[in-house]
Amino acid sequence: MSVRILGSSPLVGPALADLGARFPDLHLAPFRSPEWNAALPQAEALVVLVSEPLTETDLDAAPKLKAIGAYSVGLNHVPVAACRDRGIAVVNTPGVLTDATADLALALLMALTRRLAEGEALVRSGTWEGWAPDQLLGRGLAGKDCGILGSGPIGQAFARRVWALGMRPIFWDREGLGGEVDFGPDRAPRLPLADLLPRSAVLSLHCPLTDQTRGLLDRTSLETLPAGAVILNTARGGLMDEPAAIGLLESGHLGGAGLDVYEGEPRLNPRWLGAPRTVLLPHLGSATVETRAAMAHLLCEGLAAALSPTR
Ligand code: DGY
Repeated sequence: MSVRILGSSPLVGPALADLGARFPDLHLAPFRSPEWNAALPQAEALVVLVSEPLTETDLDAAPKLKAIGAYSVGLNHVPVAACRDRGIAVVNTPGVLTDATADLALALLMALTRRLAEGEALVRSGTWEGWAPDQLLGRGLAGKDCGILGSGPIGQAFARRVWALGMRPIFWDREGLGGEVDFGPDRAPRLPLADLLPRSAVLSLHCPLTDQTRGLLDRTSLETLPAGAVILNTARGGLMDEPAAIGLLESGHLGGAGLDVYEGEPRLNPRWLGAPRTVLLPHLGSATVETRAAMAHLLCEGLAAALSPTR
């Protein structure tokens, strides 16, 4: 079998097909299917989705591998250190999904605080009896602090959005940096986690999942959020102790949770389905036509560079 590039999906847009025309042969098969497994030993480049975790065993089985293209900005599903040790280039898609992901976090925030799903369900049920002074009251945002975990591009893009709503962004960064973040229209402080959490009426997660950040929001830290706080997670499920968050929603301490990502997704803790004041989405952060095409383009440019003979 002749295989140069192995992936499971054509991605969005023409970029991967174009790459396959430039560097034949492109082979697509479901991840870990018998066809995929059979093609792996021949592959010089792999394309993996965020739902396709690679292991060092895969690298052992792919002695010709020169590059891995992750169709994501997150790299928690790729054994990056082992790739570095073996001289395998790792390409991902930073930058192009910043706005789409920040937009989705904002959509979760608005859906939760203005009770959009409940309102929509009421209208569709055919039982809406008309405007009432206390019907489906939400919570305002202006003048409140918004804690943002991660002061990189997505965290800053989210800060611009909540700033436009009149909120005050405050940041925490995994590098332990202090000082201020210049997020464009304004500057905001970087605080220790223990100082940020008790102030955060809204807490939005925008940092990568690494050995350092796994379980960052444990039960103790979640309990320090103010009563009624809303959590948004468009980053990775493993950043937060989900059973603890569910317990705090059930007890009424947390005001809501808007989630796009889950520990162990797509199988999620079944308690999420019954947890009150939640909006649950199926990992849609980067899911716009423009963004997914731009991700494919960036990934394929990186793989082309890694596969070109001058390298
Ligand atoms: C990412 O890029 O890491 C998202 O989770 C998927 O687009």
